Amino acid sequence: MNEIKKVDFDTKDKFYNYLNIKLMGLVSSEEDVLANLSNASAFFNLLLDNINWVGFYLYKNDELVLGPFQGKPACTHIEMGKGVCGTTAKSLETQLVPDVHEFPGHIACDSASQSEIVIPLVQNGKLVGVLDIDSPIKNRFDEEDQIGLEKAVETLNKYVNISQIL
Ligand code: SME
Repeated sequence: MNEIKKVDFDTKDKFYNYLNIKLMGLVSSEEDVLANLSNASAFFNLLLDNINWVGFYLYKNDELVLGPFQGKPACTHIEMGKGVCGTTAKSLETQLVPDVHEFPGHIACDSASQSEIVIPLVQNGKLVGVLDIDSPIKNRFDEEDQIGLEKAVETLNKYVNISQIL
């Protein structure tokens, strides 16, 4: 396996282009879902600046259950509609949260978190989980990050069949 290196770019567009090419290389040659989600969380943690938590919650028995991640130990079960993750899972829409303290019902797993982005994972028309990324600074994520990370989720949806482990 080729070592993945962190590279600096002058625009977010170029950065996310690199991230998505490398992510495809990482997950497209592996069939095992847990291996791919584990590597994907480590990969995001390596490449993204100013984050303190990144990982997956998986949709099982009508709730979100903690999956592979990098960061401090986190809440293991999240109800649909609760917090940023539960809101994303229920609405099936990305939640871009510039200041978590302003988000009604935000669930604080790591008190360092100040801003957050959560993207739904929908495969074959069904919710399978969410990708959650937390930052220790406010306003860490903007619309360019959202576009780049939603492309990363499309890559995961194409190559990682999460429903196999639900
Ligand atoms: N903050 C999330 C909970 C998960 S942790 O950030 C890892 C939320 O409000 O849903």
